[in-house]
Amino acid sequence: LTLAVLISGTGSNLRALLEAASHPDFPARVIAVGADRDAEGLAHAEEFGIPTFTVPYTAYASREEWGRELAAQLDAWQPDLIVLSGLMRLLPPAVVERYAPNIINTHPAYLPEFPGAHGVRDALAAGVAETGASIIVIDDGIDSGPILAQERVPVLPGDTEATLHDRIKPVERRLLIDAVQRIATGDLTLSR
Ligand code: GRF
Repeated sequence: LTLAVLISGTGSNLRALLEAASHPDFPARVIAVGADRDAEGLAHAEEFGIPTFTVPYTAYASREEWGRELAAQLDAWQPDLIVLSGLMRLLPPAVVERYAPNIINTHPAYLPEFPGAHGVRDALAAGVAETGASIIVIDDGIDSGPILAQERVPVLPGDTEATLHDRIKPVERRLLIDAVQRIATGDLTLSR
């Protein structure tokens, strides 16, 4: 199974996936990593010798134009699966229509609780005792697609957004690698 991974940030989930995929027995391999900005995490891909591309959101006149270029970049690689690993933009319809349901996303909350760009902050603000991590299939909505895997993570007294996010990320990584593995072996079938 070939993967294209899209990121915006530090790429710690990407790195975990690159490490897992570098084992000869892992049934999927990362063929390209893309970003919507000059993301720090692209360095992980370079370290693993994986080609990267950047389609800077702010360089395009409209979301549609950005989306068309992102779709063109992805099409050049023809990935079996697109993994959104901290991409902080809504995927353009041009990409969703072309690849769905073969697009998955990792989210730092227990969906459908706390969707959107601030899942960790929103859980903290709500004062819940537990939040979590989820892996979902992308559909037309915001973090609304079918849930493939999820796990609870406790919120502890004194947590900040950063400490809580640091507790969630290792769970996200484990769930993501496991989901990719199960998709690649056919244990998990994606549908909208
Ligand atoms: C992850 O928690 C992801 O779910 C999100 O942003 C974080 C990305 O972290 N929305 P990293 O870039 O993989 O370190």
